Amino acid sequence: MGDPGERRAELDRALEVAAAEARSFLAGLDEDPVELPGTEDEVLSIGGELPEEGEGAPAAIAELARLGHATATRSAGPRFFHFVIGGATPGALAADWLTSSFDQNAGAWVGSPLASRLETVCLEWLRDLFQLPREFGGVLVTGGTMANFTCLAVARDWCAERLGARSREAGLAGLRQIPVFSSGYIHASAMKSLALLGIGTNNVHKLARDPAGRMDLGALERRLAALQGAPAIVVANAGEVNAGDFDPIDEMADLATEHGAWLHVDGAFGLFARISPKASHLAAGVERARSVSSDGHKWLNVPHDCGFGFVRDGGRLAATFSEEAAYLPATDESRPSWGSMGPEGSRRARALTIWATLHAYGRSGYRAMVERHLELAQRLATRVDEEPELERLAEVPLNIVCFRWRPLGESHHGLDDLNRRLGEALIRDGRVFAGTTVFEGKVAFRPAIVNWRTRPEDVDALVDVLLELAGRLRG
Ligand SMILES: Cc1ncc(COP(=O)(O)O)c(C=O)c1O
Repeated sequence: MGDPGERRAELDRALEVAAAEARSFLAGLDEDPVELPGTEDEVLSIGGELPEEGEGAPAAIAELARLGHATATRSAGPRFFHFVIGGATPGALAADWLTSSFDQNAGAWVGSPLASRLETVCLEWLRDLFQLPREFGGVLVTGGTMANFTCLAVARDWCAERLGARSREAGLAGLRQIPVFSSGYIHASAMKSLALLGIGTNNVHKLARDPAGRMDLGALERRLAALQGAPAIVVANAGEVNAGDFDPIDEMADLATEHGAWLHVDGAFGLFARISPKASHLAAGVERARSVSSDGHKWLNVPHDCGFGFVRDGGRLAATFSEEAAYLPATDESRPSWGSMGPEGSRRARALTIWATLHAYGRSGYRAMVERHLELAQRLATRVDEEPELERLAEVPLNIVCFRWRPLGESHHGLDDLNRRLGEALIRDGRVFAGTTVFEGKVAFRPAIVNWRTRPEDVDALVDVLLELAGRLRG
């Protein structure tokens, strides 16, 4: 009786339950706390044996919905400022429902011409949105980490080629080490990618000219010159996670060009600066890179998981990632098989949500949203500056505000501990989420604004709740 094939009549009811529950969850998202009190205990009590007999789809969905209402972190809501996590626009969310319903495998053209074609169109639209030259090819992946991995895999193979080896066949053994130069801003996911790609994190040289981590251009020039033309990878960071700052990408592009290095730009969220004339100067020079990575589930506000990588010489993606087997059909440019262009074989049709959200809001809608977020970040910075017990630690070039609690009369030494405790209290409280980091040696908050739902009152709520909890901590 448990065979889903014999219970297909349940489908309508299961979808009705899911739709009703999703509506009610989403209706509360603007006002709900990010996390309800007691969530952790409740989540840890989820368990039990694998059921021998199933309860059927409607009952299973109703139970899942109950769990979700009670314990899901409202990271898709407007008051989640932790990490850098966007929500899902109505267009993207509804398209995601259809993506699951259509259940296309976007790995091979023959498996889904629709998903394959929409991926081509989306990549062209994204290239246009970010003003990248037409020669850039790209591919959709699961997020910023895999976008870095994908781009850096192509960079690795390019370096190996310049050392006279085909790394795909021969591996890297016996080759000279491939040096990677970046600033202190390099993201942990790029480090992980370089480790996975066999380049090794010991070969990453962080050339920082100040405690914040900004690229030291003089040091970069010296290190590249010392290589005398041997291949190297330069990673520039468009938007780092502590304060949203940028490396000097244009100048790094000059040096990479002069010394023949591969310039990769990690623009997981900072690439979106290029959408607005108010911020595009920050990301000037990205168009000169050999590869660029970014994220969909951050500022594009499509559901997890989604990211994309662009490579100037798009043909190199296939050279690194092509899959050949007798049963797999050949791929050609007008009918691409995207599984042969990136690390995954069978893949979710992520293009559907991207296509729908870009179709729904267009370039101007995204520009307006990014600019609204820039204003919200400035509003938050102003609120921080106005509070005598809050201390802003960095400029706010984009969408992240880095600051700490500094109670009047508190000695410098105790501040890290106080801010760490305040950070823990904020997460425990659950009304608003923001994480802490260490910025220039100081424990600090670093709320990031990327969610389409976020309004001025949400930003104000962060300051109000922090001060309320700070008062309690001190008391
Ligand atoms: C600059 C940067 N690069 C890469 C990533 C990794 O992205 P993801 O978590 O989507 O894999 C992040 C995530 O915050 C990021 O901020």
